[in-house]
Amino acid sequence: MTVSAQRLTGSLAPHARRLAGARIAELVAADPGRASELALRVGPLYANFSRQRVDRDALGALLRLADDAALPQAFRALFEGERINRSEDRPALHVALRSDLGGSDTTRQARAQAVDAHARMAAMLQALADSDVTDLVNVGIGGSDLGPRLVVDALKDAHSGRFRVHFLTNVDGSDAQHTLRGLDPARTAAILVSKSFGTQETLLNGTILRDWLGGGERLYAVSANVPKAEAFGVDAARILPMWDWVGGRYSLWSTVGFAIAAAVGMDDFRALLAGAAEIDGHVLEAPPARNLAMLHALSAVWNRNALGLPTQAVLPYDERLALLPAYLQQLVMESLGKSVTPTGDAAGLDTVPALWGGAGTNSQHSFFQALHQGTQTVPADFIGVVNPDHGYADNHAALLSNLLAQTEALANGHAAEDPQKAYPGNRPSTLLLLDALTPHSLGALIALYEHSVYAQSVLWGINAFDQWGVELGKRIAGELLPAVKGEGVEVSDPVTRALLDEIAARRRS
Ligand code: F6P
Repeated sequence: MTVSAQRLTGSLAPHARRLAGARIAELVAADPGRASELALRVGPLYANFSRQRVDRDALGALLRLADDAALPQAFRALFEGERINRSEDRPALHVALRSDLGGSDTTRQARAQAVDAHARMAAMLQALADSDVTDLVNVGIGGSDLGPRLVVDALKDAHSGRFRVHFLTNVDGSDAQHTLRGLDPARTAAILVSKSFGTQETLLNGTILRDWLGGGERLYAVSANVPKAEAFGVDAARILPMWDWVGGRYSLWSTVGFAIAAAVGMDDFRALLAGAAEIDGHVLEAPPARNLAMLHALSAVWNRNALGLPTQAVLPYDERLALLPAYLQQLVMESLGKSVTPTGDAAGLDTVPALWGGAGTNSQHSFFQALHQGTQTVPADFIGVVNPDHGYADNHAALLSNLLAQTEALANGHAAEDPQKAYPGNRPSTLLLLDALTPHSLGALIALYEHSVYAQSVLWGINAFDQWGVELGKRIAGELLPAVKGEGVEVSDPVTRALLDEIAARRRS
């Protein structure tokens, strides 16, 4: 077992045993200050952890764990641009895209590159705005899609209206067919977003766009591989840089956010960065006991390792945040879906939970039944927005009352004579509240999750910034492509061979 695993298991196990029969409602009743004291406000974010299944002693153990794992120093290393992504021997400097906090040459250099790239992006967007282009298609996948897509959707109340922004992602040709339907190639620009410029989906969809646009005049790109983007046919003057020190899933703050800036304008794009920067400053300075990202991470670790809960739900009570669970699936599961340490040892404990979720109140009418009465306890992050951007006050009151009701019902449960009508309760949740959904508060919310993920990785002793697990499937798909095209290559796996035969037999032409 690794030192991290030993430390974590050893310090949490006695509290997990002691609290085995504890009930959230009793913990709250026994500790009158708990509801307000296990809460924290940072900038536009408020978090209440009092419905987690921990007491103050267990929290103390978690905070000692943060110290023992040198969590504050790990954040300092992140911000200073140390090569914390060890398997790829590089820093993870997404924070330099939005804040000035690291004092090292590496960070300063990264920051200067980011500022320069943002200025170039602003100029490019201005030129586009001065043209007769009406629509912009973002072509990308994973981190080159999910972040921009989430933010563009979430900030729909802040859209300038200058461009309609579309997202083309899936290698499934029906995505291209439906995205392009109704668009005019003479008034559409495309931005091909790919850090590597080697991603199959983006290259295939980029080819469709390049051909559909009839040339490269309205073809833009964001990439860390400028020569490849140029070779693809994008003019060097229309290529914005990315760097190997930004992970794809942490990249929406870079020029990967081109579609965001196109939708809301540069001022709001900068407000998004400022919101993230506010959380950056907080996580770097605040001690673990008052550190929002660290507390969030510690409660995730408690749920995963002390309570053994295998999944985590994210439940935004704001339709504009409906894409947040999908975004967080990549951020959390690509970052923390690891079972070995950077030295190759088994992590020795459970790491990533399966993250899932959906917007309330819709999901109350689908999977909440299982949250209330299913056999698995699912810890949940509920996210609410205090002030809406619409005038339907009755709807908003209903939304907020449902949000509060669900967290209460999940925690407290309800006894009934008929077991079918009884609610076991004792289901932990954290409530996150935003004053309003603005570029600033959204930036802060996303940065909170980024830093929580990093803190979890430090506590678990794993690397949050690589993703080797996605490579094998890509390689096999490449090898199978000729066989799927009927080019008669040998396929060694007997099941795949049988499936290819079945597909061939059913093909229409
Ligand atoms: O396959 C996973 C992945 O590498 C993600 O980490 C990344 O966000 C996505 O593919 C897209 O990569 P790129 O920006 O290089 O096209």
